[in-house]
Amino acid sequence: MEKLVIEGGRRLEGTVTISGAKNACLPIIAATLLSDDKSVIRNVPNLRDMSTMVKILKNLGVTVQQDGDTLTIIPGGYKKHIAPYELVSTMRASICVLGPLLGKHGKAEVSFPGGCVIGPRPIDLHIKGLEAIGAKIKVERGYVIADGRKMKGGHVYLGGHFGSSVLATANTMMAAVLTGGVTVIENAACEPEVADLTMFLIKMGANIKGGGTHRLIIEGVKKLHGADHSVIPDRIEAGTYILAAAITKGDVTVKHAKLEHNLALMDKLTEAGLEIKKVPSGLRVRYVRKIKPLDLTTLPYPGFPTDMQAQFMSLMTVTDGISVITEKIYPNRFTHTSELARMGADIQIEGPTAIVKGVKSLSGAPVMASDLRASAALVLAGLVAKGRTDIRRIYHLDRGYECLDKKLNALGAKVWREKDK
Ligand code: EPU
Repeated sequence: MEKLVIEGGRRLEGTVTISGAKNACLPIIAATLLSDDKSVIRNVPNLRDMSTMVKILKNLGVTVQQDGDTLTIIPGGYKKHIAPYELVSTMRASICVLGPLLGKHGKAEVSFPGGCVIGPRPIDLHIKGLEAIGAKIKVERGYVIADGRKMKGGHVYLGGHFGSSVLATANTMMAAVLTGGVTVIENAACEPEVADLTMFLIKMGANIKGGGTHRLIIEGVKKLHGADHSVIPDRIEAGTYILAAAITKGDVTVKHAKLEHNLALMDKLTEAGLEIKKVPSGLRVRYVRKIKPLDLTTLPYPGFPTDMQAQFMSLMTVTDGISVITEKIYPNRFTHTSELARMGADIQIEGPTAIVKGVKSLSGAPVMASDLRASAALVLAGLVAKGRTDIRRIYHLDRGYECLDKKLNALGAKVWREKDK
């Protein structure tokens, strides 16, 4: 196993290029299962989660060729419909093959994805969406077993306790595109990743209206063909580098970052005093004045993303004053706080809320990564901390950030990997 070591205290400067969005790629790769034809997916980040998804496809009998950041996927009449425990258990997002398998074969068996460190991750909304369009679902032997032979479309409100669901929307939409009737999804997730999946499905020949809105209308078609698609840039990776610029008092151009995908984060950071300018290649972020503390609440898109909560908290730990951060998507997503405390942060958790009292400085320490975004938060803290930070269990980071150490070093950071005992 490897650990990431950071020698903190360096100002970041220069240009960083953002990779394709992990959370758009995963369902788009799954969507290729809806056709027998070849699809080409471009701008695919080289991440562990992508390899897991490719393994799932290969296990189903699909041919996948990789050339740099381009995947050529040839389903070619694959017959299997099972995603096994051994693969699904390594990545929760594997559940997004359920909809395409059901749409294509009228049957699917996908290992039930468990919870994870960010809290319980139920799939009741996935089941609700699929049942609403006529699928019969049971959970047996640890598998979600779905029979979609009588699917005919339907009208469904896909809202849960915490709002809309990204992958439940994706699964319902993917299962619905090949059914005979019309499906209406109300309170659909409208994250840019869902909009990108909708674009891809339309390129495959699907009839979907309302992409990127809370109301999707899907008219089933008989057959889909392959498509060629370049995935949108990763707004969470972009946001993480924007915060890296802020926390190190830097000046960084984030190439391919899209303002319209990051409005809530940009709004908060501008309010906090960071200068953010649209430039032809993306966004330029400059520290020009002392950052102010802020309160925020995570919400479904276009609200402040839960996937940026941990990283934003790192910035607030070194901001003079008190910030109140409320997590409304995953109320337990605070595992980073105890590790940040090891570095000198002052954070108190009260239910779904973190009260952060800014400190003068953080100091480097050995810390443990617990999930993907918590790990990114520790990296940001390490960049500004005095001395050396050793981050263990960085396989979490490699699930979601392509070449993180290389990209940071190119901006002037001092980050390297070491063997961990
Ligand atoms: N929820 C339910 N029932 C369901 C599904 C979800 O109650 O059947 C709840 C969840 O527990 C949560 C809320 O609804 O409270 C939203 O969850 P959602 O279903 O939208 O999450 P997801 O689709 O499983 C995706 C991203 C996550 C990201 C969330 C929220 C992918 C592969 N994953 O997960 O990304 O945090 O949306 O935006 O797209 C990450 O990249 O680090 C990550 C965890």
